[in-house]
Amino acid sequence: MKLYRILFEKVFDPIALYKVDEDRIIFLDVNPAYERVMKLSRDDVIGKAFYEVWPNAEPRWSRVIRECLTQKKTAHCIGESLDVNSYLEAIAFPIQPDMAAVIFLDRTKLKRSDNALRQRQNQLRALAAKLTITEEETRRNIASDLHDRLGYELVSQLRVLREIASELDSESSIKDSIQKLINSTENIIAENRSLIFELSPPVLKEAGLNPALEELAKNILEPDKIQWQIITKGSAEEFIADDSICVILYRMARELLINAVKHSGASKVNIIINRKPEIITVAIEDNGTGMLKTSSKGFGLFSIQERLLALGGNLKIISEQGKGLMAVMTCPLKLKDGEIFHGNKNIIS
Ligand SMILES: Nc1ncnc2c1ncn2[C@@H]1O[C@H](COP(=O)(O)OP(=O)(O)OP(=O)(O)O)[C@@H](O)[C@H]1O
Ligand SMILES: [Mg+2]
Repeated sequence: MKLYRILFEKVFDPIALYKVDEDRIIFLDVNPAYERVMKLSRDDVIGKAFYEVWPNAEPRWSRVIRECLTQKKTAHCIGESLDVNSYLEAIAFPIQPDMAAVIFLDRTKLKRSDNALRQRQNQLRALAAKLTITEEETRRNIASDLHDRLGYELVSQLRVLREIASELDSESSIKDSIQKLINSTENIIAENRSLIFELSPPVLKEAGLNPALEELAKNILEPDKIQWQIITKGSAEEFIADDSICVILYRMARELLINAVKHSGASKVNIIINRKPEIITVAIEDNGTGMLKTSSKGFGLFSIQERLLALGGNLKIISEQGKGLMAVMTCPLKLKDGEIFHGNKNIIS
């Protein structure tokens, strides 16, 4: 018993002993750590009721003692104590039929670093979303510059070269060189077109997300002889998604289709697009190996998840070994300014 007393006296965390007397929780004893942290002396509290000592205490602290004493088992609660200006965790143990010991653990530092970590995570997600949108805008700007400026110049140059070629007689010493220039200009124009296409797929702008995903599936899955189909629910005319949302979903679907080709060994892929009044869901489902226990943690799925979370959506992976994998991306139809960031201050825009 003496040993327990020494432990009670020396332990760094506050401990209080209570009993219940006719519905009142009465202090039996407190240790020196309790006196130090709660700024109360032992003599001031012993024999007093809990609410006499702490008249403004949040109900959770007395509730945990009562719960421990009535149910005769360990009870636990965590929260901010305004009385001592700390974030405390209380663990109450029944030690005799009508007696409980409560140890109070100071979690203030942990809570602060948890909050800071959460805030940092929100900022990083916001940054990821902003980067995705900026990247798309930059791609579109480069694509339209390539189309309007370089494309126009190249077509004019080709016309001039063809005119020169048509005016040269067949014996001219520069005829071959002009023809080479015509061929190379035609190649540059074709290269320029495919670059523009890569940077900003025109079908996405002209025809919308569904046909763009069809074209994507054709380009990515057919070379590997993977059968595919698109299943759509909800009308694209009725539930209109923002351009940026469509582009982001398109890029992410691309990564998921590449994953299906790279990792799943599937013979069939379904692309399911489901539009509802506020949200759009794009799911890529394959009939391949599913996620293996040995699967490495890549960057692709992580980055899709983070970017979607920042946009107010999410990524769900449903997978069973040997039964394929379904990646479901959910996203709001509209991108609302200022809603990208979930923290207190929008540090980005
Ligand atoms: N459709 C799928 N079928 C089976 N396993 C998958 C599938 N998609 C992803 N995986 C597994 O999950 C892992 C993580 O995928 P993720 O896209 O994050 O990374 P990665 O494709 O390996 O690399 P990265 O995308 O960064 O180039 C993959 O390495 C793979 O093992
Ligand atoms: Mg990947």
